[in-house]
Amino acid sequence: MRTVMNSPGSSFWAGISSFPEKGTSTLSLFDIVNTPGVAADLSHISTPAKVVGYLPPDDGLKKALAGAEIVVIPAGVPRKPGINAGIVRDLATGIATTAPKAFVLVISNPVNSTVPIVAEVFKKHGVFDPKRLFGVTTLDVVRASTFVSEILGDLSLANKVVVPVVGGHSGVTIVPLLSQSSHPLPSGFAQDELDKLTNRIQFGGDEVVKAKDGAGSATLSMAFAGAEFASKVIRAANGEKGIVAPTFVNLAADKEGGGALKKEIGDDLDYFSAPVELGPDGVVKIHGLGKITEHESTLIKAAVPELKTSIDKGVSFIESSKL
Ligand SMILES: NC(=O)c1ccc[n+]([C@@H]2O[C@H](COP(=O)([O-])OP(=O)(O)OC[C@H]3O[C@@H](n4cnc5c(N)ncnc54)[C@H](O)[C@@H]3O)[C@@H](O)[C@H]2O)c1
Repeated sequence: MRTVMNSPGSSFWAGISSFPEKGTSTLSLFDIVNTPGVAADLSHISTPAKVVGYLPPDDGLKKALAGAEIVVIPAGVPRKPGINAGIVRDLATGIATTAPKAFVLVISNPVNSTVPIVAEVFKKHGVFDPKRLFGVTTLDVVRASTFVSEILGDLSLANKVVVPVVGGHSGVTIVPLLSQSSHPLPSGFAQDELDKLTNRIQFGGDEVVKAKDGAGSATLSMAFAGAEFASKVIRAANGEKGIVAPTFVNLAADKEGGGALKKEIGDDLDYFSAPVELGPDGVVKIHGLGKITEHESTLIKAAVPELKTSIDKGVSFIESSKL
């Protein structure tokens, strides 16, 4: 399995050693700075993966991407969406021309726009396969599990609690379906407590920025979440069955499931985050919302206009870009 981490920012590569790859693997890193050092450091971790780092000179991006089966994009600048749009567009162009069949896992924010950006670049190059493009929303799922286990007063449940988180990946577009938590909230959990918990999951990133006193945003928890999702994609690519994970996808990836989901949402959105079954060719099935409460239905209605605006922004950014 050939994986590209593009780029190995200050933190995201930390989780990559947990990839359960079979046989020989290569992990290629690409960044505008520091990749030789990061690659040397990572190469000492006891995994079967050979680690190589590339910089832009001498066709570094092309070399990093050659033969890649999975590309993870965490490149960018936290909380600077305009800059990230251009970075993601340029990396997507590299992938479309060098590794068009790779699974692309987009971490760079705003995911609600950067995923459509990658899709539009791929469309312009005639290589778009919606089954192979994923927005990484796992951190929202990880936060929901942790915060619910805190409320249940048992942190040992944190890696067992499963809460589907749907919609998108910023603020009010993040909709945790707490009524479907594998471990139900305490009986009599009041509406204002539910609102507070929902808000904490939606704006968990702000909590980290505040605690770091402006000196950074979520990086270590993102490394964990990125590794968790990439690992699921790799396991599914290697033939493991029944792997389901919430992720922000183009709903054309599964016409039947995506179409049914649009009906449930009550809108013709092109992208939405939902639990998705993964397989050797990427998306197998997009699951519906299941039985949701009136409160959750209100949250989804509130998410849709912002999601639309963000998706449109990504699409029009590429329409107005010279590729
Ligand atoms: N999806 C999520 O849940 C989630 C969570 C946290 C952060 N993020 C996003 O991840 C991105 C990175 O955050 P971070 O905290 O690691 O930032 P960071 O600054 O620590 O790392 C980003 C890296 O990108 C590199 N980079 C910049 N321009 C590049 C280019 N043109 N090509 C290749 N590499 C380039 C930088 O050199 C740096 O090493 C941001 O967009 C952030 O908002 C997403």
